[in-house]
Amino acid sequence: MPLGSEEIQALIEKANAVRRNAYAPYSKYRVGAALYTKSGRVYTGANIENAAYTNGVCAERVAVFKAVSEGERDFDILALVTDNGGSPCGACRQVLAEFGLDTLVVIADGSGHVLKSLTVAELLPAAFQPSDLKVEK
Ligand code: THU
Repeated sequence: MPLGSEEIQALIEKANAVRRNAYAPYSKYRVGAALYTKSGRVYTGANIENAAYTNGVCAERVAVFKAVSEGERDFDILALVTDNGGSPCGACRQVLAEFGLDTLVVIADGSGHVLKSLTVAELLPAAFQPSDLKVEK
């Protein structure tokens, strides 16, 4: 069922709350994500950094991978919260695109104010998709 505005605000609050679990000793940039699936469940994620910097992972991908590893592939809304309402990185856009271009990404700041609401298709135009691998001769 599509979420109403109060439920979206509750999803943003979940994304904001999980930022306390971010492991971000290097950037100090705490990111929280809350992914609402079409089955009605919520999977949260926070960014997890590493002393070997490139091994860190973003909050959005943690949320998506938690969901997929629990058997969920159909997503409705991803709420994303940072202090300043930053946008999702390119790698996370690509990972979201794998599971559908219609997922709505709601970007909010640390006070819960929504700065942008965009679909994955809008965030990643002309995405490389699973269908691109089905090359016909
Ligand atoms: N980060 C995310 O968690 N999501 C994004 O979409 C952008 C960046 C994290 C990665 C790193 O831990 C910190 O923010 C600074 O780049």
